[in-house]
Amino acid sequence: MNLDRKLPEAHFPRKVFEQHLKKVITSIKNSIPTIGDRNPKIGTEDFQWQYCGPSDWVSSFWTGQLWLAYKLTGESTFKNSAQLRKPYFKELLALRNCHDHDLGFQYSLSCVADYKLNLDEDSRKMALDAADSLLTRFRRVGKYFVAWNETHILGLEKTQGKSIIDSLENMALLFWATETTNNPIYREAAIAHADTLAKHIVRDDFSTFHTFDFDPLTQEPVCGRTFQGYADDSCWARGQAWAIHGYAQIFEYTRDQRYLELAKKLAEFAIHHLPENGVPIWDYRLPADEIQYLDSSAGAVTAAGMLMIAQHCTDSEEADYFRQWGFHMLAGLMQHCDLTETPEALGLLSDGASFVKRGMCKNMLPYGDYYYMEALMRASGYTKFFW
Ligand code: GLY
Repeated sequence: MNLDRKLPEAHFPRKVFEQHLKKVITSIKNSIPTIGDRNPKIGTEDFQWQYCGPSDWVSSFWTGQLWLAYKLTGESTFKNSAQLRKPYFKELLALRNCHDHDLGFQYSLSCVADYKLNLDEDSRKMALDAADSLLTRFRRVGKYFVAWNETHILGLEKTQGKSIIDSLENMALLFWATETTNNPIYREAAIAHADTLAKHIVRDDFSTFHTFDFDPLTQEPVCGRTFQGYADDSCWARGQAWAIHGYAQIFEYTRDQRYLELAKKLAEFAIHHLPENGVPIWDYRLPADEIQYLDSSAGAVTAAGMLMIAQHCTDSEEADYFRQWGFHMLAGLMQHCDLTETPEALGLLSDGASFVKRGMCKNMLPYGDYYYMEALMRASGYTKFFW
């Protein structure tokens, strides 16, 4: 590959990230009493949280941070607080009409985490139930997982033929389900979906559509669209991030080099569209006369993805390139968005852009926080997560 964007500033000692991770753990610990058994949804102006209802796709990201903190420290405070949320995820399993393509986020970071760390058999069963529910969304003719089921978003007809880039991150639950049951059905569907999206949602220049429509009846490919991005032909930064991290993760499960190569090319597109400070603007093709809101969550997911890519590059120059860009993005977040020195803040990062066209920007976001922690751990040398 021709990897050609020079870093504005080179080389970050690992120690910087290790020390920062300690501050993150302290901040999480300090927030536990206030958050209680609620699940953060989006930050308020005064750095408090609004909390989720029973089926929100973001419901597991605080739980994921608690499990990571437990993995790092072994302290029961984190474990107890994470396990306190089990009834929530049990209730969600029964709400079948609320299930969508994001079940992987919801159950990898809660029940799979509990099983991997504590061998909790009940959590394993819950995660498998979620994987079975996710599998029902696979369209066998079109070979993709259908996005959403809330017809108020797009209308029944369009929702039924829609695939979405975010779903790539959710495939990990299916790969895990095959690993734990030896039943190949989950993995086969995940691979078919990854290949369909590689063909249709990824453009020739390795930018991405947010969603891709198939004809709901014939399942023939129709066209790429956006929901949260600036325009159908723009490139929503968090969508690109889901694809970078998602394909790197799919490589980890399959060891198929095609997915790693794709993740690298998607990452290279992002690298060429990053501002000097390394924190993405919310859409990589945002016109210059629009307000240039940052999306720290896209930065955190992308940084974690780049560090995962670097871990698997066999060429040392290529590995160094992605590692240093991952470090640069992480350093950008630490410098411009970090809240660990803001005592009243219940979250870790400012300037997340949840949905700019609906006025949801400049917020703390629980997923930005989760991936910030994951990226700091990857920068400190950790390679095993709950995906
Ligand atoms: N999965 C929805 C989002 O990234 O906002």
